[in-house]
Amino acid sequence: MGVETEIVRVTELQVAFGGLEVVHGISFSIDTQEAVALVGESGCGKSVTALALARLLPGPPSCQVEGVVQVAGQDVMDLSPERLRRLRRDHIAYVFQDPAAALHPSLTIGYQLCEALAGSKATRRARALECLALAGLRDPADLLCAYPFTLSGGMQQRVVIAMALAREPQLLVADEPTTALDVTIQAQILDLLVDLQRRLGMSMLLITHNLGLVASSADRVCVMYAGYLIEFGAVEDVLRMPAHPYTRGLLDVVPRMEGGPRRLEGIPGMVPSGGDPLPGCAFAPRCRYATDLCRTVRPALVPLPGRQQQRVACHYPLREDKV
Ligand SMILES: Nc1ncnc2c1ncn2[C@@H]1O[C@H](COP(=O)(O)OP(=O)(O)O)[C@@H](O)[C@H]1O
Ligand SMILES: [Mg+2]
Repeated sequence: MGVETEIVRVTELQVAFGGLEVVHGISFSIDTQEAVALVGESGCGKSVTALALARLLPGPPSCQVEGVVQVAGQDVMDLSPERLRRLRRDHIAYVFQDPAAALHPSLTIGYQLCEALAGSKATRRARALECLALAGLRDPADLLCAYPFTLSGGMQQRVVIAMALAREPQLLVADEPTTALDVTIQAQILDLLVDLQRRLGMSMLLITHNLGLVASSADRVCVMYAGYLIEFGAVEDVLRMPAHPYTRGLLDVVPRMEGGPRRLEGIPGMVPSGGDPLPGCAFAPRCRYATDLCRTVRPALVPLPGRQQQRVACHYPLREDKV
């Protein structure tokens, strides 16, 4: 996997708000046409990481960003305002949790969709209809004249996805795209995103707090805890052989369809809040395997012997398969 196959490379990304560090030097990459999932509990730094990809975080002094972020071969931190605008317009598209917040309430779907497009009125209209159809919306011509509030949450999210597709982005960032929707349509929207990502050959960063969702929707997974990247690898490896006790805990809270009822173990304790007062592993206070070593020395993210690509930040990685 050479550099030319990568659409995203993040190196030692650090983000602090008012001096309080919330992302502590994380590194990962996304290949072209690849879906990478970013997983972790609420507040662990997923959205902050996603926003850094298009330099969408607030500027200094309220927010300090360090490290290197490369998207489509460009150094995002060093882009001129004009090139940054082009990157955001043409290369990266975001789909957020709340579709109602992403759509302007008093403008028609057609207006909002065409506004993002270039070309003659007829060209833009044709492309808008095409994108609405791609997003699985029937009767797209009628939708062009509709206002967002007349649509259900699931339909609104499909419109947001259509808008995201409009300029054929190379990278789609989907930040908890189904969290605000009815349970019954969450799977439909996720399937739609995965189908579009594969069919249109986009790369995707799929952010979720539910590790159970990544099995069928991503190629590789990054697990974050309290601003650290603590496990990384191919989805099938990480789900079958989670090496970090936190990843194992996340899997244990995923309810399963097959196999009858099982006890949901959960992960006791709380995510540490901001800053970095702990010298050792951030997960140590909640980890049943923690020793003095864990409480004093922060484990580095290192390859697991005998496992392709899988990396874990733990002094005592778990070795048995998950059953
Ligand atoms: N604009 C902001 N100002 C101050 N703190 C923020 C801001 N955005 C995020 N944070 C803090 O950064 C941390 C990570 O947030 P976030 O990336 O939104 O978490 P996640 O998406 O994983 O739930 C949290 O502690 C959050 O309170
Ligand atoms: Mg978030």
